[in-house]
Amino acid sequence: MTPGGAPSALERLSLDDLDPVELSGRRVLVRVDFNVPLEGAGGKRRVSSDARIRAALPTIETLLERGSAVVLASHLGRPKGPDPELTMEPVAKRLEELLGRAVAYSPDSLEGGLVPGRGDRGDRGVVLLENLRFDAGEKANDPAFAKRLASLADLFVQDAFGTCHRAHASTVGVTEHLDPCVAGKLVQRELAAFRRLLESPGRPFVAILGGAKIAGKLETLRGLLERCDRVCLGGGMANTFLLAAGNEVGDSLVDPDLVEEARSLLERHGRSLELPVDVVVARELAAGAESRTVAAEAVEPGWKILDAGPRTVEAFGARVRSAGTVFWNGPLGVFETPPFDAGTRAFAERMAAATQAGAYTVVGGGDSIAAIEEAGRTIGRAHEEGLDHPDLRPRNVFLQPLEGGRWKAALLDLDRARIAARGARAPAKKKTSSGSTGLLRRSFARAA
Ligand code: 3PG
Ligand code: MG
Repeated sequence: MTPGGAPSALERLSLDDLDPVELSGRRVLVRVDFNVPLEGAGGKRRVSSDARIRAALPTIETLLERGSAVVLASHLGRPKGPDPELTMEPVAKRLEELLGRAVAYSPDSLEGGLVPGRGDRGDRGVVLLENLRFDAGEKANDPAFAKRLASLADLFVQDAFGTCHRAHASTVGVTEHLDPCVAGKLVQRELAAFRRLLESPGRPFVAILGGAKIAGKLETLRGLLERCDRVCLGGGMANTFLLAAGNEVGDSLVDPDLVEEARSLLERHGRSLELPVDVVVARELAAGAESRTVAAEAVEPGWKILDAGPRTVEAFGARVRSAGTVFWNGPLGVFETPPFDAGTRAFAERMAAATQAGAYTVVGGGDSIAAIEEAGRTIGRAHEEGLDHPDLRPRNVFLQPLEGGRWKAALLDLDRARIAARGARAPAKKKTSSGSTGLLRRSFARAA
């Protein structure tokens, strides 16, 4: 709880706060993040990772159990307009398999004939709308588009965790028209994970930050350095720090503009900031390229750092093994180009082992999640079981809270948000304050 009794940004009115009676026979618009990877082309396209679809099932199933009709809405990719390669059809198919029931897929987007009339309160089906971004009104948060979308339902559930930072018609605009607006189970679970990281992390609290680019991550790094007992850097972003620490980095990816900044962070936080001790280098970034492992201070001109070496994986692994809490975001090497995925995969096994040994671990970012899913399998769990294990379950990590408590779009504006009393029916609609951003004015916030 923040001073003055205002709720923390991590407390939101959620689906579980609603009286089941409120949901029975009602039409619920659920914003989901079904922005999933696809493979194949044309009519043969299929979903290649359904993790995001599975992550939305608890909300969908809860609503169906409570007798709601569910209208699912998502974007897929970044189309500039209608694009046959980005229809939701493959998603609808996979969702049907996972739910074990028919999903009415509405290829005509919002006006789809499959969305039953609002008078039809008895309907309990599931409808999946067409890709929201086929209409320019989605990204523009166009009021007319938001109104049309909202007209399909009586109330709104935001469960698109990976999209909560976008101020679009389906995340923000619709909340002007639907009441109540609540967080779904996925968003709730993610927020609970963040609360634990931000408010009561078991110590030592260790962060592993990787990924290619350093730009845009420095704020996160600063936030982590404030909160964590140790921050281990890997991936391309570590190169700039290795350079700042006085090492030769050859032809490695670095951000020359940030070397000074990296140097000052090393000076201030040198004791808690840990860099790779050995690295895998190659002359070119190509699948199967000839590579060597060298000490971090022995990179020669003409070579590029492309992965963490085994001693680094051991060192970072030792940190997580003795940690109470671990936050990992971003691969330790060029994960998409073998053999430079090896460091990330080996480290993922250390994460899985640390989790089994009792550390509270939070993993974010597509590549890190893919690696941890595989590690979950290798340590002997069935895939599904691994995903369902609460501590191994990958979490799509939303970095904003670690960047100094800034929340954007659909989960923000807390100070201006109208607070709905916990467990009470959401208050009747009224215009809420008109802050400068013109975004969400109500929803999600839960009273003390
Ligand atoms: C994601 O995949 O990160 C989310 O679905 C958001 O997609 P966007 O970055 O295209 O808005
Ligand atoms: Mg994204």
